[in-house]
Amino acid sequence: MPAIVVVGAQWGDEGKGKITDLLAEHGDAVVRFQGGNNAGHTIVRGDEEWKLHLIPSGILYPGKRCVIGNGVVIDPRVLIDELDALRARRVDVGGLRISANAHLIMPYHLLLDSAGEAKLGKLQIGTTRRGIGPCYADKAARLGIRVQDLLDEKILKKKIVAAMEPKRLSLRPFEKDPALDLRTMTEEYLIFGHRLEQHIADTSKLMWEMLENDELVILEGAQGAMLDIDHGTYPFVTSSNPLAGAACVGTGIGPKAIEEVWGISKAYTTRVGAGPFPSELHDEMGETIRERGGEFGTTTGRPRRTGWLDLVALRYAARLNTMTALVVTKLDVLSGLDRINVCTSYRGAEGAEFEDFPYHQTVLHHSEAELTELPGWKEDLGECRTLSDLPQGARDYLDFVAEHTGAPVALIGVGPGREQVIWTEAGQQTLIGAAAARSTPV
Ligand code: GDP
Ligand code: IMO
Ligand code: MG
Repeated sequence: MPAIVVVGAQWGDEGKGKITDLLAEHGDAVVRFQGGNNAGHTIVRGDEEWKLHLIPSGILYPGKRCVIGNGVVIDPRVLIDELDALRARRVDVGGLRISANAHLIMPYHLLLDSAGEAKLGKLQIGTTRRGIGPCYADKAARLGIRVQDLLDEKILKKKIVAAMEPKRLSLRPFEKDPALDLRTMTEEYLIFGHRLEQHIADTSKLMWEMLENDELVILEGAQGAMLDIDHGTYPFVTSSNPLAGAACVGTGIGPKAIEEVWGISKAYTTRVGAGPFPSELHDEMGETIRERGGEFGTTTGRPRRTGWLDLVALRYAARLNTMTALVVTKLDVLSGLDRINVCTSYRGAEGAEFEDFPYHQTVLHHSEAELTELPGWKEDLGECRTLSDLPQGARDYLDFVAEHTGAPVALIGVGPGREQVIWTEAGQQTLIGAAAARSTPV
């Protein structure tokens, strides 16, 4: 069996956690391939809510294989807390495997992330301050500490010294911070290693074995296409590649293993942190969407910026990911609006119209959204389970989105609950849709 990638098609927080949890029922493994605990993936089951940051969104199925791939950056303290919190809620975490090659977020990465933001002042990126950027920077500079290093005191100490040496100047303000004391840090990280040891594995080999055994592997992205370090709104991006292409290197499998790429998008747009957002709403409508959609960060609690659905960006994300299916979440949030706008092109500062996402930062930063107005609908969608349950306005809206994105809508979210989804015919024809149809009447 092949692998399926689930990725964010916007600026993150599209509902990847919910969709991954839903698909995981029919898969054999769920694997994270990039990002770290900057991610916050929510799963709602009945009246229980789970917020996962590092652990893949398949963990709620007892015995399901969950893998943190080599492309993820791991704050071991956060991972251990997350494991403990899950265990306290009686979740079996025995199936978790962690790549021995994944890089570790160290105390100095956290300090450097915050210090870097403070230095940028008004120009700050608005990072989650979880040390993500500095950790990936060390990885690229070949100064990273990896999960496997936790199992060897001598190597660990040596590598910490080597990693801190070139940072002496920037770490000077934290000279007296006990978190940076070499002995304390080494001892602490060795304890983390001891706690995590049973989960550490050669996950690339494990992935290969699973695929060889015809198992269905779900690769769970974090963040979203527009936060991609190469193709997103650089420099207002994260420090990894949330695109489907990264699922291969981030786990150690080849591209031919991937059969489907599902891109997740809200029915509108949100963004946390700074950076261009042409369809942003600064008015009451933006506030209404934020309140109705509960648009406050899962990781940092920050209010999310809100705006109309940006089809220029979504089309770009579909292309970058070779998206085979689109999932539209939070359609329910738009109920009750008389008119709904969507951004169908950008207008540059000099009046030029852009139907394709502009590659030049200056053009993008001065672009304004050209909007197309569509009729809204009044009905609450929370109980809709088939396309025909949806009011005509909502169906027309989805058709418009699919046509402008170039990817068929497979699944629609009509509420946070696990059962609050609609499978379309196109969705049922996908690998996972077919499996879902076999096991549950849809
Ligand atoms: P992720 O980071 O992509 O996993 O998304 P987050 O969990 O950060 O944010 C998505 C939020 O929307 C969570 O609170 C979900 O419970 C919620 N959510 C997901 N799908 C839907 C939906 O279709 N309708 C509504 N109303 N909420 C949803
Ligand atoms: P999930 O997986 C939304 C944003 C931050 C900031 C930028 C860089 O839940 O969708 P970083 O800490 O990564 O260096 O911050 O990226 N960001 C996210 N926004 N959802 C996320 O994850 C995000 N992870 C990072 O707000 O703008
Ligand atoms: Mg999130």
